[in-house]
Amino acid sequence: MTKATITKRVLGKSGFEISECGLGCWQLGGDFGPIEDDRAYEVIHAALEAGVNFFDTADVYGGGKSESYLGQVLGSKKDIFIATKYGRDGNTYPDKYSLEDMRDSIKRAQDRLQRDVIDLLQLHCVPTTIMEEGAIFDWLLQVQEEGLIKHFGASVETVDEALLCVQKPGLSSLQIIFNIFRQRALDTLFDQALANKVGIIVRLPLASGLLSGKYSSSSTFAESDHRNYNKDGAAFSVGETFSGIPFDKGLELVTELESHKPADLSMAQFAQRWILDHKAVSTVIAGASSKKQVGENTSVSALKPLEDDVHKALYDFYLTKVEAHIRGVY
Ligand SMILES: NC(=O)c1ccc[n+]([C@@H]2O[C@H](COP(=O)([O-])OP(=O)(O)OC[C@H]3O[C@@H](n4cnc5c(N)ncnc54)[C@H](OP(=O)(O)O)[C@@H]3O)[C@@H](O)[C@H]2O)c1
Repeated sequence: MTKATITKRVLGKSGFEISECGLGCWQLGGDFGPIEDDRAYEVIHAALEAGVNFFDTADVYGGGKSESYLGQVLGSKKDIFIATKYGRDGNTYPDKYSLEDMRDSIKRAQDRLQRDVIDLLQLHCVPTTIMEEGAIFDWLLQVQEEGLIKHFGASVETVDEALLCVQKPGLSSLQIIFNIFRQRALDTLFDQALANKVGIIVRLPLASGLLSGKYSSSSTFAESDHRNYNKDGAAFSVGETFSGIPFDKGLELVTELESHKPADLSMAQFAQRWILDHKAVSTVIAGASSKKQVGENTSVSALKPLEDDVHKALYDFYLTKVEAHIRGVY
């Protein structure tokens, strides 16, 4: 069987040629409800078979479990890019950042990922004050110089934080929440990202699944699923769950989106094609929880771009119907 291909895009200054559909791996840590080993491995293998060569994880997803799954399957596959993160471990966050701590964290991640060097290390939503102070960016250059990582980037909560990072020397990527419900980056960030050769990695493309259109008011989520315990931001930034939109409002908005969606696309395809139509975006890292979802998400690469009038209508939809309902920092 010939391996499927997905169009590749360059990830900023790293020069990595990565699949425009990547795989987000937070769900492999069990924070979207329990996940058994078999299903975790099946999702990773399905992504590989579909042509995905970019996987996003973090040291804290399932306390290292997500990284370990990736290490088992991908550790020896040097043509596959794995991006991990530093900065949300309980021993570090919110104010114990240091060069030594960063080094130690990288070494633990290398063990779990079964790699001698990390492809891309991203700051993981570290407090704004730490990024403003700036030493953390010097440490990233230092660990890069030491050969512990190949490249670095930052995953941030707000567009202002992204703008704070975008011109930092050596920064290859910014990971942001960007989807039909959350479009602020369009006017403010994307031109600067392109000008500074910073690749945009898009998380929450489906607003935690809302933008697949599969949920209803009777949908429930497991106790260990952040879409249960963090739906109103009780545990961490509310934007990370349903993009900060109250669940019932999100259901209403998705229903309204139907009228803009081409009939031959599923809602999940529509939402992800809209993202890929922006050239500042290097990759979309939907967190698939099954082989079937991997197939649907990666199919988006072969779809044609949406028409300009659809883009205009969706921007208007965002401004008039959605923006006022976004909670939390943004
Ligand atoms: N601070 C950070 O740096 C940060 C924060 C959040 C996420 N991330 C990264 O971004 C990745 C993606 O974000 P996310 O997982 O939070 O949000 P997401 O990709 O918008 O949503 C993931 C959820 O959407 C559903 N889904 C995925 N594909 C689907 C499809 N084709 N059809 C129907 N449902 C589908 C699944 O829900 P079900 O479980 O109901 O099937 C899945 O758990 C994460 O895995 C992680 O790598 C980083």
